[in-house]
Amino acid sequence: MRVVSGIQPTGNLHLGNYLGAIRNWVRMQDELVTTGGECLFFLADLHAISQPHVPAELAANTREMAAALVACGIDPAKSILFNQAQVPAHAELQWLLNGTARMGWLNRMTQWKDKAGKNREGQSVALFTYPVLQAADVLLYQATHVPVGEDQKQHLELARDIAQAFNSAFGTKGFTDSQGHEVPGRDIFTQPDPIIPPEAARIMSLRDGSAKMSKSDPSEMSRINLADDADTIMQKVRKAKTDPEPLPSEMAGLEGRTEAANLVGIYAAMAGMKPDAVLAQFAGQGFGAFKPALGELLVEQLAPIAARFNALRHDGEALDAILAQGSARARHLAAPTLAAAYAALGLVRG
Ligand code: TYM
Repeated sequence: MRVVSGIQPTGNLHLGNYLGAIRNWVRMQDELVTTGGECLFFLADLHAISQPHVPAELAANTREMAAALVACGIDPAKSILFNQAQVPAHAELQWLLNGTARMGWLNRMTQWKDKAGKNREGQSVALFTYPVLQAADVLLYQATHVPVGEDQKQHLELARDIAQAFNSAFGTKGFTDSQGHEVPGRDIFTQPDPIIPPEAARIMSLRDGSAKMSKSDPSEMSRINLADDADTIMQKVRKAKTDPEPLPSEMAGLEGRTEAANLVGIYAAMAGMKPDAVLAQFAGQGFGAFKPALGELLVEQLAPIAARFNALRHDGEALDAILAQGSARARHLAAPTLAAAYAALGLVRG
């Protein structure tokens, strides 16, 4: 088993990232230590340049995000933690895959459509080919499992399509030898499976139940950052948009109440309960009672993460050492697949 996933080092790590992806990274890391296999987690700094950015901020955010991941439980002794920019094979493989990916496939990506909006002509080429780099990120390591939130599912499907198209065009074909033995063909890439947590696949904004919680939302009140202090968390939950109705006893009763359903979902994910069990506990009560309970649960669970993050975030030397060591291991693991892809395409490297 080879687990690979990444996060863009733009802004703070928020509750959507944590419940949708990072918590699963930590679980898978801890499982693989006993069952065997490898985990690679990276900061997608190459992806971050697909939109306007401030170079000094990107460098600082890359270190901060590394600190946040360690604070959440990613252990550099168990997982390979690195940033793309230190592993040139990501950019190289992206170029090789650009020959296989099709404009039509990329044009269908909803994230491209959302981010480009009406101004496609004004976007960077990198924003358009972003999913090809994402495919390279996972195919480079023969990833078998990719833990992500729901919003990355389409990008993962594209990675599978690219792998399949490349394998069938450039992999070696199976044949029957002169003695009648079947000689199997050889694929260059493994097709990765997305791992999406059913209970927290899509955490929504605290201000708008139809928009996902996101780093790019201009309102700080829309998201809970893992480094928020207790007062800030309580205030954000208190001000979260809801409705005046009391909570029903089952999830079916929350249909059409997207903000309410989101808060119940967050409670359930944080408490490790089913949403129906949360409702069984709070049925008939209003948000005046539910919100303080949710706020306290969040504060209790996030406080140790925030404390570890604050202790680490300014230790640039330690963070650089973690990333340098992880990158060296990643470069080593990437080399055979990159070489196989060059060779399969007929590219002579000496
Ligand atoms: P990014 O940086 O936007 O998000 C990192 C992870 O957090 C998940 N996530 C959410 N999950 C549930 N609810 C939300 N509101 C929410 N917001 C974010 C994302 O699904 C993701 O798993 N393109 C990727 C980074 C990337 C990557 C990769 C991921 C680059 N290469 C290869 C996997 C494999 C991104 O921008 O994620």
